[in-house]
Amino acid sequence: MTDTMLPPQTTAQIDDLCALAPVIPVLTIERVEDALPLAEALVAGGLPVLEITLRSDAALDAIEAIARALPEARIGAGTVLNGEQYRAACDAGASFIVSPGATAELLDYGSGAEVPLLPGIHTVSEMMEGIARGYRRFKFFPAEIAGGVNALKALQGPFADIRFCPTGGIRAHSAAEYLALDNVMCVGGTWLTPAELVAAGDWPAITRLAQQTLQAVR
Ligand code: 3PG
Repeated sequence: MTDTMLPPQTTAQIDDLCALAPVIPVLTIERVEDALPLAEALVAGGLPVLEITLRSDAALDAIEAIARALPEARIGAGTVLNGEQYRAACDAGASFIVSPGATAELLDYGSGAEVPLLPGIHTVSEMMEGIARGYRRFKFFPAEIAGGVNALKALQGPFADIRFCPTGGIRAHSAAEYLALDNVMCVGGTWLTPAELVAAGDWPAITRLAQQTLQAVR
């Protein structure tokens, strides 16, 4: 057990977030001018919780632009790898933080932060490190490679109070199978924003994809 324990409200904050939508689009935004129309298209399609990965130079500006212009959306930062990026994402206006893995640095940083962390885990031992620090909600990543639906089913027995947002390899046709599990709160993925539609600025097609996904999972 470490000295740094997660404030109990973090679990509630993540639960509130996941209650807003069953699917979290994961976006890598290359051109900041795409940020707002893309976010508007997804929100119009019924998906108000968005994860913007810090994998592009435009990411922090994109988070700032969307968070300022679309208060009805909840904008998170993804691919956050260390405390410095965590702080930068919060400064840009991110209202939640997602990491692909769970280092001690990130878990500790998340324990002291107002903006909640959804740490990524791949193995039971990584998850147990998070549990020891008070975390009860995790990104399961990369979901399909880490065992997919069957792995999550197997975790239900020993870890009954733990909930997941699986991400990685999930598509419209498989999302419902994950969401049917009691320990899955929501799923994440990039399939809602195909690069060719973003490059073409075909925002209505992205709204339709969001709507079709929601129909498929309900
Ligand atoms: C992530 O950053 O969470 C993943 O890259 C998303 O995986 P996907 O592209 O398979 O949806």
